[in-house]
Amino acid sequence: MKIIKARDYEDMSRKAANIISAQVILKPDSVLGLATGSSPVGIYRQLIDWYHKEDIDFARCRTVNLDEYVGLTPDNQQSYAYFMHQNFFDHINIPAENIHIPHGDNRDAEAECRWYNGVIRALGGIDLQLLGIGLNGHIGFNEPGAAFEKETHCVRLTQSTIDANARFFGPGETVPTHAYTMGIKSIMGARKILLIANGKAKADILYETVCGAITPAVPASVLQLHNDVTIVADQEALSKMPGELIR
Ligand code: GLP
Repeated sequence: MKIIKARDYEDMSRKAANIISAQVILKPDSVLGLATGSSPVGIYRQLIDWYHKEDIDFARCRTVNLDEYVGLTPDNQQSYAYFMHQNFFDHINIPAENIHIPHGDNRDAEAECRWYNGVIRALGGIDLQLLGIGLNGHIGFNEPGAAFEKETHCVRLTQSTIDANARFFGPGETVPTHAYTMGIKSIMGARKILLIANGKAKADILYETVCGAITPAVPASVLQLHNDVTIVADQEALSKMPGELIR
């Protein structure tokens, strides 16, 4: 794993955006695996800025998102589809038909997951997968205990994830309890992985991910087995990381 240290959130976002930008410049029809959460917002902001400056062109890019809450329609402000449009897609020139996100409003979990696995396959796999990391080591919505061999599936969220994500929901809004998520196998199938993390709260889990045992108890630890992972994290998130592992 390559570990790159950033000063702060802005610096992390710029460094990670540079990696995504290089991917798109080198391969304009790249399949980008995208993520939600607060971590990637700065990356999307930076990429939008470079798009406006005509430094980067998304016309031929295809995207697949990691996950979506079950039960939410794309126009629900809490859905990841809404998030992606607000924070990224509506501000760049990616054609709508190139965007893929699991349909949270499809209650037929089996059909939805089968469809999504087919989409990833038909696109020829993911060139670069962007990942955030949950406080318990989840990637996408693969919670601790998730089997490493799963592709897209429906998961029941852990209470800690429901609590962590409750901050995005207003008073009176129920936080969904289930999600469709790419599985560990789908994520590990990406040719390159870019994991981002910032803030003190992520320091322990980032250490576990890189230096701990490879175990489903820490889903992100499986990334130790992937041959092209880059971690871009700020100094707070890297505060527990042995210095010799950082570039
Ligand atoms: C959610 C998303 C994950 C994300 C995680 C961390 O659970 N499903 O993909 O990595 O949150 O979120 P944040 O970046 O806000 O810390």
